[in-house]
Amino acid sequence: MPRLEHHTLKRYESIWFGIAVVISLFLFVSVIVSFISGTYSAIGGGGGHHITGVTNGRLDPRNIAATPFAKPGLRENADGTLEAFVVAKAFAFDPPVLRVPAGRPVTIHVTSLDVMHGYEVEGTNINASVIPGQVASFTTTFGRPGSHGTICNEYCGTGHHNMLGRVVVEAPTPQAARPAGE
Ligand code: CUA
Repeated sequence: MPRLEHHTLKRYESIWFGIAVVISLFLFVSVIVSFISGTYSAIGGGGGHHITGVTNGRLDPRNIAATPFAKPGLRENADGTLEAFVVAKAFAFDPPVLRVPAGRPVTIHVTSLDVMHGYEVEGTNINASVIPGQVASFTTTFGRPGSHGTICNEYCGTGHHNMLGRVVVEAPTPQAARPAGE
């Protein structure tokens, strides 16, 4: 009789082992497919914008001097689009206060210099993990002037709870202030 029990156990073990293998294979393949298909948009493309020194949303965190992150903040491109570069490092955001105009699309790029941080802009749906070596990009339009707190929501060390910043949305500058011919 002990022989029979042993055999029964073995059979169940084989079945469970088979199921575990199938689940593992499924997860393994789905993660790879997800990466290839670009489901992880924040990692994949830099929001469709070309950024100097950034390839496929990746950069060398020790050499951000070669990228626009060397001068964090908002800039207006020649085609009139707005891009903001934000650097996260323990335990602050640079710039600490990001000023953007209301009513215009702004693409915000965030990267980390050291460890994993978070970038959440209160009152919006902006909420990204900020991973060293990678750029998280998102485009948004702030509808009206105001102030939004930015918080790091990934535990990053002893100063994590002090890692706070701000996005200040300003009333748009009058079109007349722009040079003629645009
Ligand atoms: Cu940076 Cu938490």
